[in-house]
Amino acid sequence: MLSTNELGRPTLIFDEVSSTNTLGFEAAQRHTPHGTVILAESQTAGKGRLGRTWHSPSGKNLYVSIVLTHATYKTHISWIPLVTGMALAESLELVSELSLSLKWPNDIVIHDRKLAGILCEARQKGNTEGAIVVGIGMNINSDNDDFPKELRDTATSLKLERLQEFDRLPLLAAFLANLESHYTRLHSEPIEAIRSQYIARCSTLQCAIEVHFSSGKRLEGEAVDVGMDGELQVMSFDNQNRHTILPIRSGDVFHIRKSLRGIYNAGTVE
Ligand code: BTN
Repeated sequence: MLSTNELGRPTLIFDEVSSTNTLGFEAAQRHTPHGTVILAESQTAGKGRLGRTWHSPSGKNLYVSIVLTHATYKTHISWIPLVTGMALAESLELVSELSLSLKWPNDIVIHDRKLAGILCEARQKGNTEGAIVVGIGMNINSDNDDFPKELRDTATSLKLERLQEFDRLPLLAAFLANLESHYTRLHSEPIEAIRSQYIARCSTLQCAIEVHFSSGKRLEGEAVDVGMDGELQVMSFDNQNRHTILPIRSGDVFHIRKSLRGIYNAGTVE
């Protein structure tokens, strides 16, 4: 089913691993080809963003990591998580006919529930070129009771949304092909074009949001833009109602409500 030139060549398939991302870095150390994919039926220590765990039950979903070793990928490293999110949203939309959006930076969401998540990790090893490992967890055929209790109101799967099961491998092959063409565009098109396309998909913009940082600090404001490095620009107000725009590069974003500007724009007839 694979129609790519680089991604998924080879694809290493396992029954159970600790984390496909961890295996991705191990493979990179052994000089695996750029684009190697690690695929597992289940993970015992699946990693999520910001130090969380990714619950990974067997036989229902997709847990996949892509190893990027070409030095050119470092040029646009801040866009890799966002572009991966765009490719994933498009591919999941195509098979499911659902309407999906991206919560900054790259959670795939529908009706405020999370359908898939992406963890990009980069490591530099001594003088070698290092690797970027892009890990993707997609909830495909999970039922509600497959999720831990605390996630049952905020997570979803293709099956829960469409009330039917989905074939995982054709979906993965289509996603890898789409991802490869997005990565090619990242190196051949102006960032402004990629940024516009991302903005059109991102439901965080024009939302009143709260950002939780790994330090424990929190920020409230309005998500007003995505910058040229893919950073979220948040307008926040001080006690004297003076505003500042802060660039957010990492953090957990919670949508509180659409801002007045967002509601007004949504209601505008062109
Ligand atoms: C997130 O927190 O939203 C990111 C979740 C990423 C999970 C995937 S599953 C495959 C790969 N291996 C991991 O350990 N994590 C990623």
